[in-house]
Amino acid sequence: MLDDVIRYLVCPYCGAYTSCDGGSLRCTAGHVFDVARQGYVSLLPAGVRGDNGDTAAMVQARADFLAAGHYAGIVADLAHAAAEVAATRDAEGCVIDVGAGTGYYLAAVVDRLPDRVGLALDVSKFALRRAARAHERIGAVACDVWRQLPVTDSAAVVVLNIFAPRNGAELRRVLSSAGRLLVVTPSRGHLGELVQPLSLLTIDERKDERLAEKLTPYFTLVDRCEHRSTLRLSHRDVTAVVAMGPSAWHADPTILADRIGHLPDPMPTTVAVTLSTFRPTGP
Ligand SMILES: C[S@@+](CC[C@H](N)C(=O)[O-])C[C@H]1O[C@@H](n2cnc3c(N)ncnc32)[C@H](O)[C@@H]1O
Ligand SMILES: [Zn+2]
Repeated sequence: MLDDVIRYLVCPYCGAYTSCDGGSLRCTAGHVFDVARQGYVSLLPAGVRGDNGDTAAMVQARADFLAAGHYAGIVADLAHAAAEVAATRDAEGCVIDVGAGTGYYLAAVVDRLPDRVGLALDVSKFALRRAARAHERIGAVACDVWRQLPVTDSAAVVVLNIFAPRNGAELRRVLSSAGRLLVVTPSRGHLGELVQPLSLLTIDERKDERLAEKLTPYFTLVDRCEHRSTLRLSHRDVTAVVAMGPSAWHADPTILADRIGHLPDPMPTTVAVTLSTFRPTGP
């Protein structure tokens, strides 16, 4: 694992700094964490199960869908916004993606920032295996966003949070006071044409409002822009986009396949997401 990334990591037991020791990370108090063959390290405390993240099938579907370029417009907007933050904020630090999945977005962002490294945090080992390989300047770490992140205070100039769970206090703690939090959330009409025919879970219409409310004690919204486009999805693409999302936990695959078979091919499908930029609240 990259030394440049390790300097931002702390021990989940005692909070001490870590360093590389052969194929392991070791904190200054002697706690040891093995770096997996696939290149990520788990900083989940013993006994904490990392099985509430995306499954192997969900991660495969996400990787396939993203590789087809359907969200290229979103990633371009995000990378542009991150590059602007890094250029204008006088702050040291890495880029942290909380709930990074396959590392698709983080890889695009660090690629735009040649002097920064990226830290992909997720609880799914299937996602982390991919994130660890997504870019040469990314390190991937297993942790639970609902606990204290195993990361130093003010480590990041940019924190990313894309379709992923948010713990406002920890997002704030790991962000430099000059840095920015970039959040991507689905907005009204996202994948709307698929909802009724496939009985998908609907998106909370007040999601953007709730996002700002939830982050309010820690962050102030400084910019919000909407990305809206229409994709023409093959049945294979539709299968992947359903399998990578929250409906994957609920849908019966046979019934779903039958319903997808009745859709037009290609299927015009709206992508509607909001990119929100937050600054830390306070002076
Ligand atoms: C909808 S996916 C989004 C992944 C990625 N940001 C993307 O857009 O491609 C949500 C991600 O959050 C992760 N996740 C869910 N619960 C988590 C938790 N408690 N701690 C850390 N990661 C979690 C999942 O494993 C999954 O990779
Ligand atoms: Zn320790």
